[in-house]
Amino acid sequence: MDEFFIKPKIKFGVDSLDYLKNLVAKRYFIVTDSSMVQLKLIDKVLEKLPKDSKVEIFSEVTPNPTVEIVESGLKRLIQFDPECVIALGGGSPIDACKGMLYFEKKVVKECSGGTELNRHFIAIPTTSGTGSEVTSYSVISSGENKIALANEEMLPNIAILNPEFMKSLPPKIIADTGMDVLTHSLEAYISLKGNPFTSALAIEAIKLVKENLLDHYKNPLELSQREKIQYASCLAGIAFNNSSLGINHSVAHTIGAKFHISHGRANAIVMPYIIQVNKNAWQDYANISKELGYKFSNVSEGKDCFLRFVEELKKEMKIEQSLNQLEIDFSDFKLRIPSLIKDIKKDICTEYNPNDLSDEDYVKLLLKIYFGTDEI
Ligand SMILES: NC(=O)c1ccc[n+]([C@@H]2O[C@H](COP(=O)([O-])OP(=O)(O)OC[C@H]3O[C@@H](n4cnc5c(N)ncnc54)[C@H](O)[C@@H]3O)[C@@H](O)[C@H]2O)c1
Ligand SMILES: [Fe+2]
Repeated sequence: MDEFFIKPKIKFGVDSLDYLKNLVAKRYFIVTDSSMVQLKLIDKVLEKLPKDSKVEIFSEVTPNPTVEIVESGLKRLIQFDPECVIALGGGSPIDACKGMLYFEKKVVKECSGGTELNRHFIAIPTTSGTGSEVTSYSVISSGENKIALANEEMLPNIAILNPEFMKSLPPKIIADTGMDVLTHSLEAYISLKGNPFTSALAIEAIKLVKENLLDHYKNPLELSQREKIQYASCLAGIAFNNSSLGINHSVAHTIGAKFHISHGRANAIVMPYIIQVNKNAWQDYANISKELGYKFSNVSEGKDCFLRFVEELKKEMKIEQSLNQLEIDFSDFKLRIPSLIKDIKKDICTEYNPNDLSDEDYVKLLLKIYFGTDEI
């Protein structure tokens, strides 16, 4: 049976943070990272919380959060015992917070013979990228591996989309996270689990990216495009939460964790090669090109129009075309190929990819991604 599901209530717009003013809880636990404290973005949240409330801040989350960070946050969460938990930041703090809440719930349930723990959970994204505020996923790193947990219980109760938080984003992070939005919408659209609801959201997100990402990158202080990319991020999140993703993400998770590349950048680097290899989705790429207003006369040309759009966007935002441009050593890369393939195949995102690749296909794909050529 098919299903389409949206959970968090979404508060959006420049005044959306006022939602916090009306909260009645007395104890708040905030999960964030050190930049949010340094940039004083956390102050915007603190100012709105009820005056007589007690607040504990866990700001130790790092990009690509680890199991250890989740564990130490979980200890502080249990000690403080808040009524309300707020995640403030990019995908990393939101995912780390989801992990803490999930494991706490699990432990309480197991130790108390089934008691459900339900803390009020608010997610406030400060990047327009992961869509984590509306997804049941949490991506946690363990050693050199990235593990994507998936559970509806991790969904926030409320997502607050406030474009004020994105004013301080450096262009490089806008580029990376914006390409993550494009990857989410693209993979939601071509996924074997896609449906009319997810496709409509995905197409709208792709159009918003095409019309606004470059302007947002060039001028982060301009409200109009900043707000639209934030909507695109959220729309794409709702779409892929229902349709799942594909091997663009599986490959990005794997090489991102091994070679320390930011999530969005890893997605952007591999995207053109994935488009070429996903032959069963060429018709979908052509459909997207049509929606974007490109003219072409057959499916392959339609796919190429979309490919050119992606390559142009990457060039404008100074994103590398291959792993060798990141100065990753080839002999190290070559030695790792068998384990990379193993990890890509077991990634949660691989199941609904339109093409099922053989090991030989993966070897060719990885070499193309390394050398930046389609001629292998
Ligand atoms: N849960 C999901 O559904 C999902 C989906 C895709 C990716 N992810 C995961 O999310 C993580 C990536 O999240 P991200 O791309 O949002 O980046 P991030 O949270 O790792 O943040 C990247 C950097 O940007 C800084 N930053 C964040 N907001 C800022 C702002 N407003 N101004 C200035 N600096 C700011 C952070 O401090 C950090 O240094 C990865 O671990 C990835 O695997 C999760
Ligand atoms: Fe992503």
